[in-house]
Amino acid sequence: MTLDLVDGFFLRRATLEDHPALARICLETGDAGKDASAIEDDPELLGLIYAVPYQVLEPDLAFVIDGPGGVSGYLFGAADTAAFNTRLANEWYPELRRRTADPGPDAASWRGSDRARRLVHHPDLTVPGSLAAYPSHGHIDLLPPARGKGIGRRAMAFLEGRLAAAGSPGLHLQVNPRNGDAIRFYGAIGYGVLRSPDLPAGHVYVAKRLRTTDEDSPFHLPPKR
Ligand SMILES: CC(C)(COP(=O)(O)OP(=O)(O)OC[C@H]1O[C@@H](n2cnc3c(N)ncnc32)[C@H](O)[C@@H]1OP(=O)(O)O)[C@@H](O)C(=O)NCCC(=O)NCCS
Repeated sequence: MTLDLVDGFFLRRATLEDHPALARICLETGDAGKDASAIEDDPELLGLIYAVPYQVLEPDLAFVIDGPGGVSGYLFGAADTAAFNTRLANEWYPELRRRTADPGPDAASWRGSDRARRLVHHPDLTVPGSLAAYPSHGHIDLLPPARGKGIGRRAMAFLEGRLAAAGSPGLHLQVNPRNGDAIRFYGAIGYGVLRSPDLPAGHVYVAKRLRTTDEDSPFHLPPKR
């Protein structure tokens, strides 16, 4: 399966062989959308938290944007965020903790990848009640050569279509509040910012309702009268 995009870029399913590229892209977009290479002393860890597990745990919704310079972006979805987080807790983080020392709770003493290391030992995997209408979530990062060409818009529409076909009524994404470019991007493609006291501070949540097509889906909601 491939989806031709623009200027030789195309979207395809991510594979096991893409793991190094997923980790590299995650690092190079890991500082609120900008390159985090100069910050992180563990170049793989951000990818092992935010990118690689999607290919392993939800491969049907894990894609890369490939192109003239090689893999230049990724697009991930999790249809059921609560179920995905349970699998992260049971199947992913235990192994990751074995390779990662906990730097302790004192954020003032954290250096390099310590913020990420702390997260590995204390992940927040609860799903706030205010996200109930948006049970799926997504994740997209493109390297600079792939940006500003409409690829983000096309890729998100593709993911939305896959999730809607699976019966999801809506999806959300977490955005770093310092990433104004991404917040404006999501606004331009129809996402609204969610505001609720149960949403963790430190993130902006953007969300969109989907037109569900699968009436047998566990997510399917009866149409409003
Ligand atoms: C954010 C990102 C996914 C957007 O993808 P993109 O391919 O560059 O965006 P597109 O070219 O598809 O733009 C789609 C729309 O968003 C708008 N948009 C994109 N970036 C914007 C910005 N910085 N400010 C205002 N509008 C913006 C475009 O103008 C376009 O609107 P239009 O179609 O009405 O003209 C991509 O730039 C990226 O990966 N950035 C770095 C990593 C990152 O921040 N990821 C998101 C983490 S939550």
